[in-house]
Amino acid sequence: MQLFLDTANIEEIKAAARLGVIDGVTTNPSLIAKEKKDHKETIRAICDIVDGPISAEVIALDAEGMITEGRELAKIHENVVVKIPFTPDGLIATNALHEEDISVNMTLIFSPNQALLACKAGARYISPFAGRLEDIGHDGIEVCSQCQDIIGTYDYLTEVIAASIRSTAHVFRCAQEGIDIATIPSSVLMQMMKHPLTDSGIEKFMADWKKSQN
Ligand code: G3P
Repeated sequence: MQLFLDTANIEEIKAAARLGVIDGVTTNPSLIAKEKKDHKETIRAICDIVDGPISAEVIALDAEGMITEGRELAKIHENVVVKIPFTPDGLIATNALHEEDISVNMTLIFSPNQALLACKAGARYISPFAGRLEDIGHDGIEVCSQCQDIIGTYDYLTEVIAASIRSTAHVFRCAQEGIDIATIPSSVLMQMMKHPLTDSGIEKFMADWKKSQN
């Protein structure tokens, strides 16, 4: 299973990269806006830290605009994956960029049917939003799993990125379901490392060691 970090915060990315468990990074317009820095420079800086797929989202909503912007983003670094929202125009742009060998991550996917269309358009990745589906009472990880099943059935080359991950339980369920990738906020990554028995175990080992040195 691959783990991506879902942030545009350079410090968070540096800290997570040092752990050696991060395979890529995803960003979106909200995450970029939060950092108040230049979009392209931020993506370039992320590419210098993590050697893996780095998703950079287009702002345009029309197909031509998405294609133009996608080409520009792809020029930043060979690892850039152009993130395109799932709309009819998004499908057109995904298909056009795919034809030019530019990798696309179709985002804002909320149903297996949207996932199927994204695969057919040539998306390299699809991002179903688990947390936002849960917000409206659906089982978001189950939808990710349904998308993954469709891809397996037809041998599409597309990989699923479970997005809008809000908890360690989400990550665990993704792993149980065999989801290709989960993109997670830094806070969830930090929580994944924590266990009270690890902390108390270290305390006891250190206390016993000190006693033996007297
Ligand atoms: O990867 C998508 C993510 O950034 C959205 O998360 O928590 O705003 O639904 P959230």
